[in-house]
Amino acid sequence: MIDTTKPVQILELFGGIGSPRCALRNLGIPTKAIDYVEIDEKAVRSYNSMFAEELLYQTQSVVGWNLKPDILIHGSPCQDFSIAGQQKGADEGSETRSSLMWETIHIIDQMGEWKPKYVIWENVKNVKSKHMIANFIRYQKEMERMGYTNSCEVLDAREFGLPQARERVFTISVLGGEKFCFDDLIRTPMRNIREFLEDNDTVPEVYDVTQPSVYNVIGHTGIKRATVIEDYAFTITTRQDRTPAQVIDCGDGRYRYLTELECWRLQGYTDEDFQRAKEVQERKGRYYMALYRQAGNSIAVPIFESIFRKIILGEVKEADIC
Ligand SMILES: C[S@@+](CC[C@H](N)C(=O)[O-])C[C@H]1O[C@@H](n2cnc3c(N)ncnc32)[C@H](O)[C@@H]1O
Repeated sequence: MIDTTKPVQILELFGGIGSPRCALRNLGIPTKAIDYVEIDEKAVRSYNSMFAEELLYQTQSVVGWNLKPDILIHGSPCQDFSIAGQQKGADEGSETRSSLMWETIHIIDQMGEWKPKYVIWENVKNVKSKHMIANFIRYQKEMERMGYTNSCEVLDAREFGLPQARERVFTISVLGGEKFCFDDLIRTPMRNIREFLEDNDTVPEVYDVTQPSVYNVIGHTGIKRATVIEDYAFTITTRQDRTPAQVIDCGDGRYRYLTELECWRLQGYTDEDFQRAKEVQERKGRYYMALYRQAGNSIAVPIFESIFRKIILGEVKEADIC
C-alpha cells in the first residue's frame, strides 16, 4: 500500500495520453506527476490539454522537493512485439521500438538505492510468444535483480466494464518481496456497447466504409477482413480504415467506422478528455488521425482504476481476497 497522506507521486514513461493519470483523477486520488516522458508531440499536446489545470505552476520550494515516484508506469511501444507488427523482437541494442523497455530498466537502475514501490508495465499478449518470451523473462530477471517481485496476468478490458476485446499483459513489480495478486482486482460487468456509440444518423458520411478493399471483405475472415461489431468492439488499433477492420452495420447496406470519439470512449476516456484533446489537434484529410492513434496506443483506463483501487485505496473484491 502507498502512503495516501500526501499526493501519490507517479512517473509516466512512454506517457501517451496519460491513462494512469486519468484513472487516478477519476478516483479522486491527489496525484503529483513528477515526470511524463513522451516523444510524440501530438500526444504531448493532448496530454497537456487534458491536464491543463494541474500543469499550472504552483508556488513551491526547492527545499524538500521530492522527485521520487511511488509508482512508475511504462507502456513501452509494442509494435515489434505485436502480431500486427513485424515481430522484429526486442533485444537490447536491437534499436526496435519494443527494445525501449530496457531504457526503463536503466532509469530504475540509475535511481540508486531508493526505488519506486510499484512498477507497472503493460504490453501486448505477444510478449509471451516463443519469439519474445526470452526478453520477457529477462525483463523480469532484471526487475528481480533490482529487488522487485514480479507478477503478471493477461487482463481483458471487457472484464473492467468496457465493451472492447483488448487483452494485454500487465506486469506489476513490487519492491521488497510481496507478490501482486490479480484475482481480487475489482472487475465490473461489460457495459452495453450502445452506451459508447454515437447515433448513426448523426455520424457524418466521411466515416462510411466506401473503399472496395474494406467494403468487399465485410463478414470475411482472414487478414483482409472487416468484422461487424455486435456486443463489443475488437481491439482498438491506431487506424480504423484499413483491414483488418471493424465496422458498424447502420442498415440498408451502409457500414461505418468507429469515430475518434467512440475509440476514446471504448478505452475508458470521458467525453471531456476527448474534447480537450480534440481542441489541440487538426483534422488531416478525412479524420483526426492523431486522435485515433492516441486511443489505439493507450491503455484501458478502468484497468488502472482497478489496480489503483487495490494498491492505493486498499479496495479489492471481497470474496477473493488473496
Ligand atoms: C503503447 S504507447 C503508451 C501509451 C500510454 N501509456 C497511454 O496511456 O496513452 C507507447 C508510447 O511510447 C511513445 N514512444 C515511443 N518511443 C519513445 C521514446 N523513445 N521516448 C518516449 N516515448 C516514446 C509513443 O509515442 C507512444 O505514445
